Amino acid sequence: MPSTRPRVLSGIQPTAGSFHLGNYLGAVRQWVALQESHDAFYMVVDLHAITVPQDPVELRANTRLAAAQLLAAGLDPERCTLFVQSHVPEHAQLAWIMNCLAGFGEASRMTQFKDKSAKHGAGNATVGLFTYPILQVADILLYQANQVPVGEDQRQHIELTRDLADRFNGRFGETFTVPEPYILKETAKIYDLQDPSIKMSKSASTPKGLINLLDDPKTTAKKVKSAVTDTDTVIKYDTENKPGVSNLLSIYSTLTGKAIAELEAEYEGKMYGALKTDLAEVMVEFVTPFRTRTQQYLDDPETLDSLLAKGAEKARAVAAETLATAYDKVGLLPAKH
Ligand code: TYM
Repeated sequence: MPSTRPRVLSGIQPTAGSFHLGNYLGAVRQWVALQESHDAFYMVVDLHAITVPQDPVELRANTRLAAAQLLAAGLDPERCTLFVQSHVPEHAQLAWIMNCLAGFGEASRMTQFKDKSAKHGAGNATVGLFTYPILQVADILLYQANQVPVGEDQRQHIELTRDLADRFNGRFGETFTVPEPYILKETAKIYDLQDPSIKMSKSASTPKGLINLLDDPKTTAKKVKSAVTDTDTVIKYDTENKPGVSNLLSIYSTLTGKAIAELEAEYEGKMYGALKTDLAEVMVEFVTPFRTRTQQYLDDPETLDSLLAKGAEKARAVAAETLATAYDKVGLLPAKH
């Protein structure tokens, strides 16, 4: 029986190896919660990963590693559909249709492309990197997703998805659900621990500012304890004047479920060191079982692969139907069977 629950879809790149704290708090944590209330589709986006050069052996290993981390974080294949993007060929197929609908200027305005291509030297960026957001549009529209749980940095891509869904529907008739971003305010953007003016990310952060979930817990504790704060001493949530402390409070609050006001009261009159020591402990308690669980899934690649195969089969059933409708609406001649 098809589910009557609203649908969510999201994806994560397998490129970095370990997920970082921004990935977890900004997105994956919400994925875990939403599988209880929504018809949820989550994927490891290996096709997105190859928009920049990848070592083939590492890519394959990192794709399994990403799936293992998603399971370790709490995704349950009985409650959600977990799959690898390249296992569902409809993603690339719908992306072509969307490529033919998106404007060159519109794609050129994507800030992530501008940032990433600037880093590699504008002339060296691949065409794949340029059309990356359009593949993401296809990812979302294939599943008729109502909501897309992501961090703030993906908002513009969801806007593009909405624009292209509207455009397709307007031109060819009602076909795609127009999705909404699902971005939680408190964790929309987790900042680098050494430079709280930039978001935590594998490419921009210094190693000390980046919390990798699979790091040795001692390293994690050390990074938290040496987080940059400010020259004041008051522990208060004030993103403008105290971005470092505010970032630590957001992280602390989300991991423990304590409200920020409650933490402010608890740490009144205490030094930054006390906050950092306690948060380091909270982090270690979180990452230690996460590492163990990830390793358990990796130790049994056969089970992992068959679980992903089942996920792909479930995903394909939905994706194939949407693609067939889209092909038909566009006017492609169906192949005779
Ligand atoms: P990716 O792999 O870069 O990141 C995965 C998720 O982590 C979030 N995130 C953060 N959230 C808060 N603070 C941070 N510092 C932080 N860093 C990363 C991201 O917002 C993201 O939600 N293009 C996507 C993958 C994708 C996708 C999709 C997402 C492909 N197709 C379809 C949604 C729907 C990306 O590169 O995410």
